[in-house]
Amino acid sequence: MLESLAARLALAANGGSDGSFWMPPQASTTAAEVDRIFYWVFYISLFFFTLIVVLMVIFAFRFRRKSSQPVAHADAPMHNTPLELTWTIIPTIIVFLIFYAGFRGFLTLSVTPANAYEIQVTAQRWKWLFTYPNGYVEENLHVPVDRPVSLVMTSEDVIHSFYVPDFRIKRDVVPGRYSKAWFQAKAPGEHQAFCAEYCGTNHSMMLARVIVHEPGGFERWLEDAANLLAKLPPAEAGALLYKQRGCAQCHSVDGKAGIGPTFQGLFGHRQALKSGETIVVDEDYVRESIMDPQAKIAAGFDPVMPTYRGRLKDEEITAIIAYMKTLSAGE
Ligand code: CUA
Repeated sequence: MLESLAARLALAANGGSDGSFWMPPQASTTAAEVDRIFYWVFYISLFFFTLIVVLMVIFAFRFRRKSSQPVAHADAPMHNTPLELTWTIIPTIIVFLIFYAGFRGFLTLSVTPANAYEIQVTAQRWKWLFTYPNGYVEENLHVPVDRPVSLVMTSEDVIHSFYVPDFRIKRDVVPGRYSKAWFQAKAPGEHQAFCAEYCGTNHSMMLARVIVHEPGGFERWLEDAANLLAKLPPAEAGALLYKQRGCAQCHSVDGKAGIGPTFQGLFGHRQALKSGETIVVDEDYVRESIMDPQAKIAAGFDPVMPTYRGRLKDEEITAIIAYMKTLSAGE
């Protein structure tokens, strides 16, 4: 949580040129409209709150009961039609105007422009994974600056919520169905994405960077990123996949206890299982644990890992195993 707050503050310090005291920068094409409606509702509420409280205090003094007076006047006004019409009609008009502005804004945010660039988003405890049209997957959201971007989002486990304050978008990400969001970034730069739905132990660590590339830069980045994995030796590709695909979120490589067993010294090690058995961590066990994580749970850990069946290719699993072997070397 501190880390996300620090990230937020760092962003406000360097990228917050058009942010206000209350609000993060308006970094998407729709952010200004969202803020306009917010401030409109806020100032209307502030006006009536002040009016009502001030009148209440004045009336409490002005018309307070004095001991010399009787409890009620027989001729006190009981009813005032013009006054009642005024305080019914004016608020009704205001409510309709708020509804109109809100509904228009809702439509703008809900209807994805036809030329949008589509990116698949997968949420899992506690990581965001972004899949680009060429099949490349990583943990940060890279987008072009000059196009609307459509996010098609689903969850592997529980309900998460994809939230980028600078873009004023927040949408729940639900297992078993797809939810959509779209935005168009206004300028190249970096922004912070959060999970805005409490999803368990490491909810506050479920962060992602949003990198907006300069015109043409996004296509170059995507091609290079996708080629890089193929060019690397297996152990190095494994180290990259470990970071990009969400392994790092639960498995440390420095021996520290996490949500799952540390990868340091894990390969070749004798592992006690929840079932009471003991097995040796070999290629087959690692592969099975990636494809079917609930099959053999290590003793002392909770079965929270989602399956990677269909999400990691055979050669990617082999690369991760090669990386794990380097973490057990010399033992
Ligand atoms: Cu995912 Cu909170």
